[in-house]
Amino acid sequence: MSDSIIKPDLSVKVHNLNLKNPVMTASGTFGYGPEFEDFMDVNLLGGILTKACTSKNRDGNRYPRMAETPMGMLNSVGLQNKGVDYFIQNIYPKIKDYTTEVIVNVSDSTVEGYMEVAEKLLPLEKISGIELNISCPNVKEGGMAFGTSCPMAASVTKAVREVYSKTLIVKLSPNVTNIAEIARAVEDEGADSVSLINTLLGMAIDIEKRKPMLSTITGGLSGPAVKPVALRMVWPVANAVKIPVIGMGGISNASDAIEFLLAGATAIQVGTANFIDPAVCVKIIDGIEDYLIRHKFSSVNDIIGKLNIQ
Ligand code: FUM
Repeated sequence: MSDSIIKPDLSVKVHNLNLKNPVMTASGTFGYGPEFEDFMDVNLLGGILTKACTSKNRDGNRYPRMAETPMGMLNSVGLQNKGVDYFIQNIYPKIKDYTTEVIVNVSDSTVEGYMEVAEKLLPLEKISGIELNISCPNVKEGGMAFGTSCPMAASVTKAVREVYSKTLIVKLSPNVTNIAEIARAVEDEGADSVSLINTLLGMAIDIEKRKPMLSTITGGLSGPAVKPVALRMVWPVANAVKIPVIGMGGISNASDAIEFLLAGATAIQVGTANFIDPAVCVKIIDGIEDYLIRHKFSSVNDIIGKLNIQ
């Protein structure tokens, strides 16, 4: 009789989202999905987080707005997108038949703007959740300003919760003293999940020109360089809240992803690594499955939060 390998169950639940596996793409690194169809079957993913969607068109920041750094990159895109109405009319029809979960990353400069976007997205059948982006470090108004104070994070979450009945994920900023406090504040106002970390504020200088590498001087640092910092934030947040935590920050391979799952993340997002290998997420899904088989776990849920600190 041959030794047949029983495939482990990779599915996880984030509030009402039934993800076929814990691997999602991070907002701003995967377009809306169609951009990656030449490289992979996007329906293999646990979920796609779209580029940020705001109430009105935004042109974004002046160039240059990306700079490579050792083990990472800085960006200051500035939430460039064509606005929620354009999303509904032109992008939604292209993604509405995906069999993976699609979650729209929502941002704006005012609470009313966040509410407007959420209300307009609510009737879209395929969109089963939104990720409230209160952590973009690259805009003058809104963005991270909402995510670095407990009262402001709480008030925008409360306002959006009142108009949005589907899954509400809040994306947290690492540029704070105590991220667990912010996580608890948004949980108390009805967030169904928190995702973390968004980028760390950083800066780089072109010494020949004696000028900053980014037009905005500072930007958001992502990539492998931030992974230990991200893990150090996911771990206390997972212990501080009851809602599911989605971990991200420098995840480039299955081993990185498993670290976040062990630290307590129910699902993970892959960001900057998509720019290096557009099919990296499929490799990460396969690598998690191999790990579970190798360690004889029947479900990915068996390793979530199972960091052994004895
Ligand atoms: O500048 C940007 O569009 C980045 C957004 C974010 O980090 O959330």
